[in-house]
Amino acid sequence: MNYNQKILAYDLIIFGAKGDLSKRKLLPSLYQLEKLCKLHINTRIIGVGRANWDAENYRKIVKNCIIKFSNEKINQKIWHKFSKKLLFCNLDVNDTSSFIKLQKIINQDRKMIINYFALPQHTFKFLCKGLKKFKLNLKKDRVILEKPIGNSLKTSKKINIEINKIFKEKRIFRIDHYLGKETILNLLALKFSNSILFTNWNNKTIDHVQITVSEEVGIEGRLSYFEKTGQMRDMIQNHLLQILSILAMSAPINLKANNIRNEKLKILQALRVINEKNINQNTVRGQYTSGTINNTQVSSYIKEIGIKNYSNTETFVAIKVNIDNWKWYGVPFYLRTGKRLPIKYSEIVIYFKPVHMNLFHSSLTNIPLNKIIIRLQPNEGIDIFIMNKFPELDLNYKLKEIKLNFDYKKNFKNLRIYDAYERLLLDSSLGIQSLFVRRDEIEESWKWTDSIIHAWKTKKSKLEFYKAGTWGPKSSDNLLKKDGRCWNIYR
Ligand code: BG6
Repeated sequence: MNYNQKILAYDLIIFGAKGDLSKRKLLPSLYQLEKLCKLHINTRIIGVGRANWDAENYRKIVKNCIIKFSNEKINQKIWHKFSKKLLFCNLDVNDTSSFIKLQKIINQDRKMIINYFALPQHTFKFLCKGLKKFKLNLKKDRVILEKPIGNSLKTSKKINIEINKIFKEKRIFRIDHYLGKETILNLLALKFSNSILFTNWNNKTIDHVQITVSEEVGIEGRLSYFEKTGQMRDMIQNHLLQILSILAMSAPINLKANNIRNEKLKILQALRVINEKNINQNTVRGQYTSGTINNTQVSSYIKEIGIKNYSNTETFVAIKVNIDNWKWYGVPFYLRTGKRLPIKYSEIVIYFKPVHMNLFHSSLTNIPLNKIIIRLQPNEGIDIFIMNKFPELDLNYKLKEIKLNFDYKKNFKNLRIYDAYERLLLDSSLGIQSLFVRRDEIEESWKWTDSIIHAWKTKKSKLEFYKAGTWGPKSSDNLLKKDGRCWNIYR
């Protein structure tokens, strides 16, 4: 299966059509797919929610979302084509008998259905019941689930069992939108099409790796969700572990979904367990207090969620991760992610081992490690830092670190970088599962994450505070300092 295969008509049902995800991401992405001629003329997009709207009301609302959340002017011709696909169904998902309304719309012209669950997880069991009762889960139909699936191994298993009762694994598309990002996909190309990288991608050559996913935003009004979830479950369990597993995985035999996923799974299975015995040496958890970002004063986490005195929820996590396999033994991967950090920025930094002997010690006592910075977002690109002779008439070699730079915007001038959701929505319609997370990957990630969360609880591990607009608590720097390293400084 590939992007050249015929685009088929389907009905996309968005459960949670009134929600933020639908407005910010799904509808603008679907509009882009229309623009790219990736939606069949007979495809329908059926928004489901509790509102007294008809198709006309819904179309107006969708148009406003596209104007607000796409960084471009709406094209009237495309909009005209797109808007004809939009329908709305006023339905309470907790009342499964009301799914009959949906069935009526679907049966006007029965084709493949893609059910998109863009709703909180506690509704999933009602959704499954309703779909089954009204035959919206036939053999060819599909379901897309948003992360996080569950909030522990136990709860994620429960959800997966529920979903598996009505959809086969081949029909389930579990989204981790980071997998749809161009630069994350490029990791596969970088590693497996460049022999200078592929042959050096192991513990013989690499010293350590840093992965930073820094966010400027706070919790964006998701009060009760975030207070129960925290940064560990919101970001590490899924996005960061997925980046890590793609980065560290060995070459699959081909690019078929299950072969890629098998290799990622092996990495997740090889993560060294962090528990009560080693929790303090390997993890840091923090929470932001008030501060300034971009010259704007922002409130503390506590104030944002409206709690008076104390919350034990982390908004920042740094972890030293070890992968206990033949290839990576001895190479630490340092992960950090947090809300209300100075800037929205994600990068992977790969540090290479030092040269065995310094021939240039008369001019430089310590030769900096070579490093590759993969800029995931924004300013997508790659920087390679190597040592070079300073050009001058001197018998002494003076060395200077120089940067070789690749920038997406400069190199692919008129090309737009697709939003992750555009790719993921297209792939799910084509039945391509490589960028979706398999059940065993999710469960393996939870197993590892649960152990850390459990150790934080039982060890009563300290939550450290950091000022909004800084790079997290001091201990985050110490996590690397004690290994003689420091975080790459954002420039
Ligand atoms: C989501 C998290 O999955 O990813 C959010 O729930 C986070 O808390 C977001 O802000 C970050 O995504 P992106 O694409 O903006 O880096």
